[in-house]
Amino acid sequence: MKRIVYISKLSPNTAIEEIQKIAEISSKNNKTSNITGVLLYVGDLFFQVIEGEIDNVESLYRKILIDPRHTDILCLKTEYGVTERLYPNWSMKTINLDELTDIIIQPIKSLLQTVTQSHRILEKYTQPTVINILVQGQNPLLVAPHMIEKIVFFSDIRSFSIFSEKLPINQVVSLVNQYLDICSIHISAFGGEVLKFIGDSVMASFPATAADSAIEACLAILQELQQLRAQRISPFDVLYTGIGLSCGEVIEGNVGSHIKMDYTLLGDEVNVAARLEGLTRHLPYALVLTKAVKMRTQKTWHFVDLGVHSIKGKQKEVSIFSIEQPCVSKIADAAQLTCLIQESLENANLT
Ligand SMILES: Cc1cc2nc3c(=O)[nH]c(=O)nc-3n(C[C@H](O)[C@H](O)[C@H](O)COP(=O)(O)O)c2cc1C
Repeated sequence: MKRIVYISKLSPNTAIEEIQKIAEISSKNNKTSNITGVLLYVGDLFFQVIEGEIDNVESLYRKILIDPRHTDILCLKTEYGVTERLYPNWSMKTINLDELTDIIIQPIKSLLQTVTQSHRILEKYTQPTVINILVQGQNPLLVAPHMIEKIVFFSDIRSFSIFSEKLPINQVVSLVNQYLDICSIHISAFGGEVLKFIGDSVMASFPATAADSAIEACLAILQELQQLRAQRISPFDVLYTGIGLSCGEVIEGNVGSHIKMDYTLLGDEVNVAARLEGLTRHLPYALVLTKAVKMRTQKTWHFVDLGVHSIKGKQKEVSIFSIEQPCVSKIADAAQLTCLIQESLENANLT
């Protein structure tokens, strides 16, 4: 048997009376599929335990995940190999903790609210892949490492060291956050996933079949930065980025120590994407991609052949390309950009 424990939030447009309907349908359906459990609610929070045969629990959880009456569903725990039910007599006992005034209930309410709040905070620090695995009712720590084809994305802020040397701390953080926000929004909007932030760098991935979307995400990022610069507000007027895209087989899985674990990608293509991002410093293009990415595209792009380049850690030289678009063409090389940044910060009296 399997048991899933999750929390969620009542959708803002769901009337409180709906909870009674959920309780009724749950009790009726669960009896038929031999599912037992408990559904607690306090304020606008749900806390539910569902247990039963694996297929039945998974099929119910799939329905629950898409139920519009609640949002922010977060799986707290999944147990496989359950031999004994916790609630054998409850096809779904629904308890409104707000109605219970007993003093003994108060710490339970407060515990639920605290656990929910801390999970919501931790969720922000956790990779979406891990959350997705949890939401699917699986334990990410048990996912075995596997080979998978991916498009790997690497980007960072050009000449970041000057900003971090010259700007006050809060300005540095605001610049980095704005940049990471722009990257994350477009990466997610085009079906990619941010794997980690490494200082001012972003590592992300897209499905190998989504080369066009990966390029579109890169262009959207570059366009938004272009628009931001056009507003001429220092230091955003000199915020440039470089992006590398590679495609191939990588290892996906848990990498880390007993103290901190990352669910991430490892392998040659990750190294290649990072190196390509580095190459953009020396090329007149802010986006560089490998032939493998180009070969995967279906849309018509104006590719520019940038020739073959040797990449540290790779024996063979790599054919690289960019896209002919105004937002991709760099207006300044590294030395010019250093001057531009210094000028902008000095003019704005930020240094
Ligand atoms: C917080 C919450 C908990 C739910 N729990 C259950 C449940 O335990 N069993 C169930 O059948 N439906 C549950 N539902 C309702 C399902 O999402 C879905 O609407 C219902 O199973 C559809 O039933 P039907 O296929 O018979 O129309 C829950 C919904 C919410 C919002």
